[in-house]
Amino acid sequence: MSIPAGVDFVLPVLFLHCDPKFWGKDVEEFNPERFSEGVVKASKDDIAFYPFGWGPRICPGQNFAMIEAKMALAMLLQHFSFQLSPTYSHAPHTLITLQPKHAAPIILHRI
Ligand code: HEM
Repeated sequence: MSIPAGVDFVLPVLFLHCDPKFWGKDVEEFNPERFSEGVVKASKDDIAFYPFGWGPRICPGQNFAMIEAKMALAMLLQHFSFQLSPTYSHAPHTLITLQPKHAAPIILHRI
């Protein structure tokens, strides 16, 4: 594919991450176990997982971002358990990154 210089090119990450061709028939199910052997083995194509882009312009902050997220979760899970609020309405929304359109209200329980 030949793309003229200066053209902004955006891949729809939501479509790529929800494509059963790469992720299998259970693509819509929440299944963290699919990453148990690492990101590369989680899908049928090693670039089907694309949250940080790919190639020479891939996000240089991805390792930092993942460690930061894991540390924040680990710190929270020491003190709280979570429950999705009954008011949550599922509406994934792409705004550069994938976000919940109507926020993601959660109920925290102190452990
Ligand atoms: C969950 C958090 C993050 C996500 C989802 C994310 C995602 C992305 C994506 C999709 C790109 C574009 C890659 C491309 O053009 O192919 C990008 C670029 C970039 N990101 Fe991140 N990023 C995150 C966190 C961070 C952090 C924490 C830093 C710095 C500490 C960072 C620094 C950058 C920089 C400097 C670029 C531009 C790279 C370039 O154009 O050469 N990002 N990021």
